[in-house]
Amino acid sequence: MHIALYRKFRPKQFKDVISQNNITTTLKNEVKLKKIAHAYIFSGPKGTGKTSCAKIFSKAINCKNPQDGEPCLECNVCKGLEDEALLDVTELDAASNNGVNDIRFLKDEANFVPSYCKFRVYILDEVHMLSSSAFNALLKIMESPPKHLIFILATTDVYKIPSTVLSRCQRFDFNRINLKDMEAKIGEIAGEEKIKITKEAVKKIVSISQGSMRDALSILEKCSIGFEKIGMKELNDVLSIVDEGYVLSLHKAIKELNYSNIIKIINKIYWEGKNLENLVLELINFYREMLYYVNLKEEAKNLLEYCSYLDFFKENENECFNFKEINLVLENFLKLYEKIKYSSNQKFLLEIFTLKVCDNFSKINYENIGNNIEKIKNNCKIKIKDKEKDKEKNIFNRFIDIAKNNNIEIEDE
Ligand SMILES: Nc1ncnc2c1ncn2[C@@H]1O[C@H](COP(=O)(O)OP(=O)(O)OP(=O)(O)O)[C@@H](O)[C@H]1O
Ligand SMILES: [Mg+2]
Ligand SMILES: [Zn+2]
Repeated sequence: MHIALYRKFRPKQFKDVISQNNITTTLKNEVKLKKIAHAYIFSGPKGTGKTSCAKIFSKAINCKNPQDGEPCLECNVCKGLEDEALLDVTELDAASNNGVNDIRFLKDEANFVPSYCKFRVYILDEVHMLSSSAFNALLKIMESPPKHLIFILATTDVYKIPSTVLSRCQRFDFNRINLKDMEAKIGEIAGEEKIKITKEAVKKIVSISQGSMRDALSILEKCSIGFEKIGMKELNDVLSIVDEGYVLSLHKAIKELNYSNIIKIINKIYWEGKNLENLVLELINFYREMLYYVNLKEEAKNLLEYCSYLDFFKENENECFNFKEINLVLENFLKLYEKIKYSSNQKFLLEIFTLKVCDNFSKINYENIGNNIEKIKNNCKIKIKDKEKDKEKNIFNRFIDIAKNNNIEIEDE
């Protein structure tokens, strides 16, 4: 039977858990010092190791021969728990066992001493899904738990947990996985699985998964099927991501206020079957990187999780918008993203919004361009003499571009 990559590579010991060092160190210490609490809550974004750590911890506290706080993985208990042959550790999906009766049933069972292990452990996944009466029932058990009983509650939405429950738990907040760590881990797993993938594609996977290791591994697996080597093209195809080339040409058309090119490019992307939602996301990403570049220059690299376009901006500074312009585009595309997700006519929305951006642009910078081209030219002439020569020249060139694209005649001097 095929096992999904993310399950095959579930960490077996704390040392395999990446990016959660504070948490794993504390948990190991508790095992070593035998200072085990009755209830824990593991909160944090999806795919960051909550369930994995709950499994490791429940092995470690029951292991016959724990080593430096780690489960040995060799003893009967470790093996029995790994094979799910021992019933003393129970994983419950609170999403589907969320009623008060489920918890009452659990209460009866929880009173029995464990059959083989030292502790009876309940891992309640997605615990925020419990009904309020179920939470009350849980609270009752937590108030006077038998010595052998331990709860590990896991949730992505800790703010939905009643404070009465929270205050009885030792709380651990899981981070999003650090991108560098994730990049290294994906590379390692690809190597082990003999999946050929370019460095650039690994970086892109990492950037898409937003700190969820499970998502990253799922994407890696999806792409590895049917391709000998995963590069940007294969990745873009499988995930229906829009090529960077399209984003650049769309930007150019917006900048030149070239309405007909905008329509043509969108049309082409649409008929290639690309996902337009992803296109908007990529545009947002593009302008966000531009915003970073314009404000922070070289430093932007250190502050962005992932950058696709910084080198382009560095080499083509005059392709960048100014701060005000970037804000305007971002504002519009963010609005568009919210709308396009639920729209039955995505192409139309995309066209309208992009043209609207252009329209707003012409209002910001080039008011009355048609009537006042002479005045604009004169203004530019004056400004070109200023200190900031290059910058003004760029603006001047842009006027000329825009004028040309809108069939406004310009006389040579
Ligand atoms: N910190 C981590 N180190 C190494 N691998 C990880 C880590 N976090 C997640 N993974 C990978 O992702 C898979 C899923 O992780 P896990 O089930 O522990 O996430 P979770 O935090 O419980 O997510 P969810 O909230 O969606 O239940 C693991 O099997 C493993 O492959
Ligand atoms: Mg989980
Ligand atoms: Zn063991």
